[in-house]
Amino acid sequence: MKFDNSRNLLERAKKVIPSATQTFSKGPNQWVGNVSPNYLARGDGAWIQDVDGNRFLDYLMALGPIILGYGNHKVNDTVKCQIDDGIVFSQMHPLEVEVSELLCELIPCAEMVRFGKNGSDVTTAAIRVTRAFTGRDRIAVCGYHGWHDWYIGTTTRDLGIPKAVKELTSSFDYNDIGSLEVLFEKFPSEIAAVIMEPVGIEKPQGNFLQDVKALCKSNGTLLVFDEIVTGFRMGLGGAQEYFGVTPDIACFGKAMANGFPISAVVGRRPVMEMFDKIFFSGTFGGEAASLAACKATITEMLDNQVIDYLWKSGDNLLAEIGKRVEKHGLNNVVKLLGYGVRFVMAFPCEDEYQARLRRSYFMQECIKRGLLFFGSHNITASHGEEEIRFTLDVYDQVFPLFAAAYQANDFESRLEGACVEPIFRKP
Ligand SMILES: Cc1ncc(COP(=O)(O)O)c(C=O)c1O
Repeated sequence: MKFDNSRNLLERAKKVIPSATQTFSKGPNQWVGNVSPNYLARGDGAWIQDVDGNRFLDYLMALGPIILGYGNHKVNDTVKCQIDDGIVFSQMHPLEVEVSELLCELIPCAEMVRFGKNGSDVTTAAIRVTRAFTGRDRIAVCGYHGWHDWYIGTTTRDLGIPKAVKELTSSFDYNDIGSLEVLFEKFPSEIAAVIMEPVGIEKPQGNFLQDVKALCKSNGTLLVFDEIVTGFRMGLGGAQEYFGVTPDIACFGKAMANGFPISAVVGRRPVMEMFDKIFFSGTFGGEAASLAACKATITEMLDNQVIDYLWKSGDNLLAEIGKRVEKHGLNNVVKLLGYGVRFVMAFPCEDEYQARLRRSYFMQECIKRGLLFFGSHNITASHGEEEIRFTLDVYDQVFPLFAAAYQANDFESRLEGACVEPIFRKP
């Protein structure tokens, strides 16, 4: 495979774009140098084509937003019509009302809705509204919640975040209720909100989510579910619908509009009414093309029972990959984490560099065979029988190579380009 056009663009980008990327996870250091494309030109269903004309099967799906498939005609045709009518106006658009009503029907906690463009917009709006509602400043977080100060100050990429802001956010560990109890003991009556991904790739153990909710209630703290990833994937009502645990507020994004940029903060009326008093307002907040895409995506998903399909097909793929991991004696080396609708093939290892090497090698061998492997498997309505067969065929070729490299304890000499880098370490 040739990647000349990708490399040329990358060289030009390095001169005019810091880190060469808008999104760290898409950056060049997230892919094995030499053997991976950097720039993609078009997508069709579950397949993408890079700027050199190479074709790959994709499971990353633009980091989650694609749920029906790239270029879904129903969604795109709806958007094209909307573009002809206009997408931003000098007053509000009816779709703001229609899509809000739809979300209130679908999402258990939703009684009112406000829209944003990115996931970070609405997680930040959720934090501001919970602070205003409770009159408290502190926040407890669990998971990833976007690029804004209140969250990113808890990570190693905390350059530029004021100390005073950092001090107001504390992290707790998933499936460790004790780590949240400690925060409530340390900061009694000070925590405005607990914001968490209801599930990441680790499944909730026992009554973890119910216990978090009870702890919030008894401390007068609001519970915010960050459903940017889980929403419209585990269910149209998100993970809260799947697990039967309803938060006060929830944030949706990514898959809401099959790739069009829209996000939403939804929740209980008394808390949401506080938006009347705080400032959350933007020029593109009610942009009609993305609202039209969101309505069309919901319609497509309901009409075609897409969520059922994602579960059925994803569970099958997960089980088939699991069989191959076992067959090659890699149970302790390759882990499949998460649910059928979204799972990750991980290569955990105490030696952090070794873990990255292993993942990089697996990635390299899949990409050579036309599978744009990143680890995440975000199944979509467009991953049909042909795609699943193709995937398993590639894995059937790559697992023996991987097992041989593992036996030889040598991934490094087999890697044909730079190893992938971690995003969260001191820049
Ligand atoms: C769970 C979660 N919350 C929030 C965000 C932030 O969303 P965005 O990148 O659209 O701002 C992300 C992005 O990956 C996410 O995965």
